This record gives sequence, C-alpha cells and structure tokens, in this order.
Amino acid sequence: MQAQAPTQTRHGLAAGEAGRPARADWTIPQDWARYTATEHAVWKTLFERQSRLLPGRACDAFVQGMRDLPIGPEQIPDFERLSEILMARTGWQVVAVPGLVPDEVFFEHLANRRFPAGHFIRQPHELDYLEEPDVFHDVFGHVPMLMNPAIADYIQAYGVGGLRAQQLGVLDKLARVYWYTVEFGLVQQAEGLRIYGAGIASSYTETVFALDDPSPNRIAFDLERVMRTRYRIDDFQESYFVIDDLDQLLELARIDFAPLYARTQGQAEHAPGSVLASDRVLVRGTGTYHAAKNAKNLV
Ligand SMILES: [Fe+2]
Repeated sequence: MQAQAPTQTRHGLAAGEAGRPARADWTIPQDWARYTATEHAVWKTLFERQSRLLPGRACDAFVQGMRDLPIGPEQIPDFERLSEILMARTGWQVVAVPGLVPDEVFFEHLANRRFPAGHFIRQPHELDYLEEPDVFHDVFGHVPMLMNPAIADYIQAYGVGGLRAQQLGVLDKLARVYWYTVEFGLVQQAEGLRIYGAGIASSYTETVFALDDPSPNRIAFDLERVMRTRYRIDDFQESYFVIDDLDQLLELARIDFAPLYARTQGQAEHAPGSVLASDRVLVRGTGTYHAAKNAKNLV
C-alpha cells in the first residue's frame, strides 16, 4: 500500500465517508492511551511556545480558565478530566470527534453544552498552519474560555441559533458572528486589547499579528456590521472586532436574530478589510500585510 503524504491527511467531514464515525452525533472515544510520545511532544512544543506569548496578550478569563483546568505542557489533556471540572463550573463537557463535523451536528452539541473537540493532533511539520481544527486548537484555544459563564452561555446560544439559522438559510450571516467573536475576537481590558478568540489564542503567528502588527484594523464590535462582513479562512484576518467586555456576549446571546436576518438580507456585504464611516475604529490598520500578499499573487 502506498503511504499517503502527511500533508494530505484529512479528518472527520473532510475525509469523506471514511471519516464518518458510527454514531450519529459523530462522537468517538478519545482513546487517550493511544496517543504516542511523538503526539504528546507536538502538544508540548505548541503549549510551551504559546504559553510564552500569551501573558499580557490573552484576556484574564482565558488565563484564569487555563489555570483552573488540567491543561499542561506534558501531555495532551484527557477530555474526561476536563469535563469534570467544566461540568462543575459551567455545565459544559468536551466530547471527542474525528475532525470537522456537519453543521447540524456541531450546533446540536453546542446547544447541549457539549464542545466537540478534534481528537487528533497536527504533525510536527504542521505546527504553524493547519486547515482543520485539531486537539490543540480545540482544547488549548477554546476550552479555557468555556470556564467563563458569559462565553459558556453565548456558545450554547450560538448552537441553538445555528440550528434555526440553518432552517432559515441564513447560516452565513450567523457564522460570521461566531468567527469574529469565538474564533477571532478581541476584548478591551483596562490594560489594553486582549485576545479571547480561540483561532488567535491557539496560533503562534496570529497571536502576534492580531495585537502587535500595524496591518490589521481593530474595530468596535457591531452585530449587524459583522453579520455583513466576509472573513478570511486561509490567512490572518484583515480586521478584528473588539468587544467592551465578555458580558457583551451575554447580551448577544439574548438577541432575537430573526429581524436582523430580515434586515441584512440583500444588503451589501463588506470586504474583510473595509473600514466604514459608521465604524468606531480603535486602530486603523495600515493594510500592508495583505497588500503585499495580493501584490505577490498578481505577479
Ligand atoms: Fe475553533
């Protein structure tokens, strides 16, 4: 049998029929004992370099959540142990899935306070970029924030809202809200901007880019504006949206999105890097990073 190139390994939904587990909810046993020494070593490398970067960059809730959970450098965390602590604090648990799962399965889990986490870990040559969420992204990036009551309620509400948005055919609008908050959100703290989005907190390069680089915009979060804003899935974000505090997410969780879908339907969409006259701009980015990339792609 020919060995598959490591860069082509796909998991879960991305692996087609082969990646589909037997259970309808796509959960599988984490099978913690099967992680190899090499896999634990990849976790350790990622954990240690991210832990060096995050002090002064991650928000207080992230730091506190990490401190209170059995997540450390030595080994890939055991989901059952995480779930015991999470369940006691915010009623959440972490369940293992092979990789990406269908939208309705994802929403159903979130609506029931179960966070589906990829059980695989990236390979040593994929430390900086991975298309699919692995255990490092899902556990290191997301789980500490699930210890915070505001995020805990917000993500559950997103699951409920996702099921509804899917029926209404407006999932793209809602997905942008998740993207610019849970994945790539920044929050204003007294000391300055801080990261709460898992897509940033689990990325060595984007942690620095999102906060320190002059290129991206940092714009005050506005729900309708975000619903109309496209995003980048293959590169750093051109704009980050900033909430005033995590309780702002609780307010979002209580909003009835139906009138917003009706209002934004058919309205013009905004490019990922555009800055509008109506924006409350905290930092106007230079745009140099993406301009340089675009120029290179045109050559
Ligand atoms: Fe994620």
